[in-house]
Order: sequence, then structure tokens, then C-alpha cells
Amino acid sequence: MTWCCLNGTIMPIEQAAISPMDRGFLFGDGVYEVMARVDGRVRAKSLHKARLQSSLDAIGLPVSVDDVFTDVDRLTEKAGLWDAKIYLQVTRGVVSARDHAFPSKISPTVFLTISEFAVVSQKPVTAIVRPDIRWRRNSIKSVSLLGNVLLMQEARDSGAHEAILHRDNLVTEASTSNVFVIRRQSLITPPLSDLILPGITRHLVIELASTIGLDVIEEPIRVDSLPDAHGVFVSSSTRGLMPIVQLDPGGQVGDGQLTQAFMELQAAYDERLHHHE
Ligand code: PDD
Repeated sequence: MTWCCLNGTIMPIEQAAISPMDRGFLFGDGVYEVMARVDGRVRAKSLHKARLQSSLDAIGLPVSVDDVFTDVDRLTEKAGLWDAKIYLQVTRGVVSARDHAFPSKISPTVFLTISEFAVVSQKPVTAIVRPDIRWRRNSIKSVSLLGNVLLMQEARDSGAHEAILHRDNLVTEASTSNVFVIRRQSLITPPLSDLILPGITRHLVIELASTIGLDVIEEPIRVDSLPDAHGVFVSSSTRGLMPIVQLDPGGQVGDGQLTQAFMELQAAYDERLHHHE
């Protein structure tokens, strides 16, 4: 059975019902988080809390993040899943009439669900490379994901696992993950800006890279430089570190093999996942 928590009430997902007048449904007016629970612990919980707070602040939605995370604890306890994926979203709630501007009185809708899931080391895969067609506020973890949805579908239809995106010839991120490049002993990733999500996995990878002797460089990456890299990978809470060895267009990345640096970083990440908060 899949459990969810809707506005504080825990129930089987089949019993959950939301009004079609919810602004999340009408406008995609809401924000979300996806977290991995590993060995019974929500990974990097405090970082997810801080990011949810900043998404809520960015869209002017006053909700207590502590209360939302109390629901996370209640739901994980109820479901009893040791390894799981937790999805949570907060929307601006139900309105009586459709109006783009916010209503003066807001009763947000808080929805969480949990399902069995294990973060596993990813096999090398192909990514399509496409213009970033999304809006310009991607640092907000908004539920309005139509651009990401269309890009990921295009990847799937091409037999690829991700879509790496670029704007003005510079890599932004991927449709559901952040992008990293390995060049010799350097780990390069685009700097944080409004154009990319400040990924929690990105943050952890940057922390770990220095512990295995990599120089971390946060600087713009030209999209046409990707095939010459020694390695390219993407990162997210659900996929961990996923190596990209083939680009479309672009062809093979480096010599098409995983670098020693990547394998060490992935091992360090796995270790971090299982032995830390
Ligand atoms: N996606 N960039 C985008 C556009 C994302 O959607 C995600 C995560 C990331 C990586 O963030 P993190 O390391 O915090 O998971 C970067 C989640 C998993 C999703 O939408 O399902």
C-alpha cells in the first residue's frame, strides 16, 4: 500500500482527494521537494528543509517548514520503509474562482507521499543535448515542470536517460539533475544562479570532491566542450551520480570509459549516503 499525508491526515493514497480548484492544479502554483530515505534516515534533511524554505519565500507562500517536516516524520514512521523516496509539495491551496493573482486568504495544500526506493550506483548512459526551453527562475523548485517534462520525454523517445540543457551555448543543468564535468583532477560545474536548481546532491558532491583530491571549479561550461571532457555526469537525490558517456548531438564523451576520478567520487558518495545524515 502507498501511504500519503494530505493536510496533516495520513491515509492510503487511493483515499486522497484534492479539489480541481486547487491552484496547484489550475496554475502549477506550488513548490516541491524529493528526498531519499537511506537506511532509515532522510538524507541531508536540513538541506532539503532550507531549500523548501527558500522556494516558499521565493513564491511568497507562508507555510511552516517545521510543520511540513513533522508530517515527513509521521509519514515515514507509518509507512515503515527503510529505503524510500519521499515526495512533498505545497501549493497555494483551493480558491473559489480562478484568478492569476493570489487570493488574500490562503489555506495551502500540503501533500506528501512515500514509496519504496533504493538509490543505486548508476550505469553509464546517453543524454540528449538540447536548448533550455524553461523559464528563467529554475532555482525555485516549482511544480510547474512542463519544460522539464517535455525535455525528459524527448530523451526517453530517443532512448536516452537525460536531457542536458544549454542557454546561450552554456550548460545550465539537466531536465531532472545537475551537470558536472571531469577534466583531469578538476571537477567543473556551472555556478549557482537563477538558471539552475541548487541541487542537494550537487552540494554533497562538491563537499566530497575535495576529500578525494579533486579541485572544484564552479564556472560556466560551453556546451560544445562536453565531448572533450574526460567525464560527464549528472546528479540528483534519486539517481545519485549518473555517468553520461554518449551525447546526442556530440557523440562519445572522452574515450567513453568511466574515469578513476568518477569512480572514486561515486564510491565516496555511496559511503556518505549510508554513513551520514
Ligand atoms: N529532481 N535540477 C533539476 C531540474 C531537478 O529536477 C533536480 C532534482 C536536480 C537535482 O536536485 P537534488 O540533488 O536536490 O535532487 C537538479 C528531482 C529528483 C525530481 O524532480 O524528481
